[in-house]
Amino acid sequence: MKKSSLFAVVALSGAAAVMLAGCSGSSGGGTTTAAAADAGRACVILPDAASSPRWENFDRKYLQEGLQAAGFEADIQNAQGDVNKYSTIADQQLTKGCGVMLLVDYQGAAVAVAKKATAQGIPVIAYDRPFTGADYYVSFDNVKVGELQGQTVLDGLKAAGKDPKTATVVYMGGDPTDGNAKMFHDGAVKVMEAAGIKAAAEPPGVWDQAKSQTNFEQALTSLGGKVDGVWVANDTNAAGVIKVLQDNNLKGVAVSGQDANVAGLQNILLGWQTATVYKPVKDEATAAVDTAVALLKGSTPSASAKLDDGTPYIQVTPILVDQTKVKDVVAAGDAAYDDVCTPDVAAACAQFGVVAP
Ligand code: GAL
Repeated sequence: MKKSSLFAVVALSGAAAVMLAGCSGSSGGGTTTAAAADAGRACVILPDAASSPRWENFDRKYLQEGLQAAGFEADIQNAQGDVNKYSTIADQQLTKGCGVMLLVDYQGAAVAVAKKATAQGIPVIAYDRPFTGADYYVSFDNVKVGELQGQTVLDGLKAAGKDPKTATVVYMGGDPTDGNAKMFHDGAVKVMEAAGIKAAAEPPGVWDQAKSQTNFEQALTSLGGKVDGVWVANDTNAAGVIKVLQDNNLKGVAVSGQDANVAGLQNILLGWQTATVYKPVKDEATAAVDTAVALLKGSTPSASAKLDDGTPYIQVTPILVDQTKVKDVVAAGDAAYDDVCTPDVAAACAQFGVVAP
């Protein structure tokens, strides 16, 4: 993306905003023009509801609250896993007017939207997932997410007394059309391979519990029913893998995850999942809101890192959560006590100090 054009646009809209404020002040009427309304609207597209509960449960809420608190209107829509719907939503939003777009990519659909937005001088933030054509990328340190997952697999193998060099480990990655999936993979593989792990099987990457379950079942069959560890890229996929482990009565298998969702936290407490990578969505949403607000106000957001293609990357730090840390996620309000500590999990909650806030 040509940054010069973005900054030119931003500077212009800043000047325009000042001029408009001046006009409405002198006329005393306070009438808003279409341009002023556009400049005050942040248009957001979420990808789906199935790959993770985070999008509807947390991202929507925190982005809405943050943008509103800063005095901007938030138009937040969900593409529900449909690339055509993604593009229709974007067209509708652009027709109404957007001062900035925050897009969570879904299977590359954000690329065409970013092109349209850029052509209209609207800055684009890649929220959580990277894609070509964004002006900024706001996300967690996703290679670090992968490294924590690789560490989870090593920790689980160690707890079971297994040698990583001879352990049978299956790799269950995320949907390769999500630009984060490669970063998760690269971080995890780096840590696992440094300890001598080699993939015994690697089915295609997905973000889908049912597909993950089927893929893992087939991998397990191909391995004669033997598995010591599974690198799994998120909790939704891990739930599918764990169903297969439970059906086959395979206990003590190292399993990683991501998102600290309710199912993941329960699987951790019950000993079916070794750990998850907790990504406090509030931190990520706050970073995105700060970036969006800076752009809406015509200033230049600051970024601590860059993607390989040079896109400024605002990074948030992920946290490893094992049995002893589940309580922190509940205490932070990122999982409800009543949802996690259902009757079958209550004893484990008590054992690991998970308490109602
Ligand atoms: C990733 C995201 C994760 C996870 C996954 C599935 O891109 O960073 O938090 O939920 O998508 O939606």
